[in-house]
Amino acid sequence: MSPLFVIGLLATAALLLSGCQPKLQTGSAERPSFAPLGTHAVKYNFMPEKPNADEGEKIYQARCAVCHGADGHGEGPMAKTLVAPHKNPLTDTFALFRAHLEQPSLPSRPARFNNLDQMRLNSPFALYETIYRGRPHTAMPGFGHPSYGANDAGPPRLHTEETWNVLFWEWSRATTKAKLDAGQRIYEAQCASCHGLAGDGKGPKSDEIRQKIWTWGRGVGPGIFTDRDWMAYRKPVDLYQAVAQGVQRRGLKLMDPYAEKLSSGEMWSVVDYIWTFVYTPPADRR
Ligand code: HEC
Ligand code: HEC
Repeated sequence: MSPLFVIGLLATAALLLSGCQPKLQTGSAERPSFAPLGTHAVKYNFMPEKPNADEGEKIYQARCAVCHGADGHGEGPMAKTLVAPHKNPLTDTFALFRAHLEQPSLPSRPARFNNLDQMRLNSPFALYETIYRGRPHTAMPGFGHPSYGANDAGPPRLHTEETWNVLFWEWSRATTKAKLDAGQRIYEAQCASCHGLAGDGKGPKSDEIRQKIWTWGRGVGPGIFTDRDWMAYRKPVDLYQAVAQGVQRRGLKLMDPYAEKLSSGEMWSVVDYIWTFVYTPPADRR
């Protein structure tokens, strides 16, 4: 075959194939793109005021303990039998080549809420999302939106408030009463002068800070631990890092680093304590 003929053939094929491109649909007929989102918009204060971990525990024992264990250590009666649907490295590799093997799914291990390495990297909102949607390719079902996860159709199995209550019970498994008490002592002695006894940023030194930081005056933003929108998206490691390294902004020294003054254990207890400004810890942690 002459090269010219091959090129001609390819060009014709390309032309023919270009006719098969899918049409792009931009915008939808029912809702013009300029229409406001209405009820889809996220409400201010997504997280309710002071979720209650004791209330959460009731839900937890009824709906989560079968997998996560009564104490949250990941060893519920169902834990050993759980599998991750469609999860197997061997079948996944073959699927790349369109060969679908039949192999057993791999086990799926429920999260352990006393696992500090995991919990300190989680924000409350990350837990919220997991509970709401479930986690694809694991045994974790969705409890929120009716169309997510194992929760096909029907009303949500947990409402927003129940979800926040239950997630803060899980949250409380990563600390102890002794740590919260130690954290409170340190906080009241060393932090409350600025951040306020109630965590609301209204300590005796706050007037001075208010002149430097606009949000401090409005009672929202970093360092105001009753700002639940801010707290919902923070991870314990973020707070820890700020305490250890101090806070500076635009050359302005706002807070001293505490890494030299406090041990890492002390800094973790104060971080654990700070979360109690946004949730009510359960009876066994108070
Ligand atoms: C059928 C068993 C099962 C039930 C019931 C269940 N879970 Fe899970 N859950 C899992 C598994 C398995 C994982 C681990 C997923 C993974 O591997 O990432 C998990 C993970 C999670 C995580 C993620 C933790 C992290 O570190 O990211 C949260 C939060 C969670 N579950 C909360 C709940 C809550 C709250 C309930 C009850 C309302 C519940 N789960 C009920 C099996 C279950
Ligand atoms: C001299 C006043 C002062 C003292 C004392 C103080 N802080 Fe702060 N802290 C601030 C200011 C100011 C900010 C910054 C607020 C901002 O960024 O808008 C801040 C921010 C923070 C933040 C959030 C940082 C971020 O942006 O992520 C944490 C967490 C924090 N402080 C914890 C503590 C702890 C714990 C103590 C006691 C061990 C303490 N602070 C003592 C003034 C203080």
